[in-house]
Amino acid sequence: MSTATTYAEFAAREAHDVSPAYERLSVAVSRDREMIARLDALPPAKRQPNLLFAAVRFLDGPVTDPGAFLDFAAERWPEVAAEMLARATQTNEVGRCALLLPVLAELRQPLALLEIGASAGLNLFPDRYSYQYSEVRLGTGEPVLDCVLTGHEPPTKLPDVVWRAGLDLHPRDVTDPADRRWLESLIWPEHEHRRERLRAAARVAAADPPLLLPGDLVDDLPALAERAPTDATLVVFHTSVLYQVPEPRRRTFVDLVRGLPGHWVAVENPTIFGYDDLPKPPDETLHNVLALDGRPLAWCRPHGQGMSWF
Ligand SMILES: C[S@@+](CC[C@H](N)C(=O)[O-])C[C@H]1O[C@@H](n2cnc3c(N)ncnc32)[C@H](O)[C@@H]1O
Repeated sequence: MSTATTYAEFAAREAHDVSPAYERLSVAVSRDREMIARLDALPPAKRQPNLLFAAVRFLDGPVTDPGAFLDFAAERWPEVAAEMLARATQTNEVGRCALLLPVLAELRQPLALLEIGASAGLNLFPDRYSYQYSEVRLGTGEPVLDCVLTGHEPPTKLPDVVWRAGLDLHPRDVTDPADRRWLESLIWPEHEHRRERLRAAARVAAADPPLLLPGDLVDDLPALAERAPTDATLVVFHTSVLYQVPEPRRRTFVDLVRGLPGHWVAVENPTIFGYDDLPKPPDETLHNVLALDGRPLAWCRPHGQGMSWF
């Protein structure tokens, strides 16, 4: 897909109805030949809309008016490009815990959680947050994660987590000011509720830091899995990670994770695993697929705002 098409698609499928500012910016970028040429000079993995917009926000640039945005990005391109090259889209979206919870709550307890692509590790605390599944509230902690759930009963209990560990190429530290600023820059401009829940979840993680190791999902998974307590159910999970991993490595990872004891939970773009016979998604916007041990179960909105079981 060309870079211009990537931005146009992002506007139509991801930002539409979710972030009017980013919808305007991505349409504007898709039509600006000079900006597309600048982006095309970066490696393919560094051309993503989220990375460009977050880099400009990190530099305190304007992200609501497309003209001001394009002027800023053009004038300050060396700095913008340097941030894009040095950083990655590592949005730690705690709302995705609401997608994991229905599965985690039904597994044999207690659980040993091992997250791949954990970013700052905020999704390693699904037992500490509260959930609002339409009318049904579960838990007493902060933040409260809202999710419109259809086709499945809301979970009635929180999981019992006795061990939590994360692996990431570049783990982020919620107590480090630059890491916090980057994580906040990755949240879309209008989404103050997401920034608030990031802050609330960061307080949880800062009070009880999880084991977060730098490492690769193939090379370093076996050694970390070895450290999990054997009297708990090991759950290896990942949300919105594999789109950043090249295809041959994804296959090696799947073979590896299938060979581990316990369970494997994935929330990923449907194109990643090439599932057969998925039902139609609820609408045209981007949906990921929740899967347990390779079996697809539900369509999920990217930030955990809704899930629709098959
Ligand atoms: C879009 S972020 C999602 C973070 C988190 N899973 C969430 O949903 O909030 C993807 C994360 O995967 C990590 N990642 C990408 N490739 C990886 C690899 N080969 N091994 C480990 N982590 C990886 C990135 O560094 C990044 O933090």
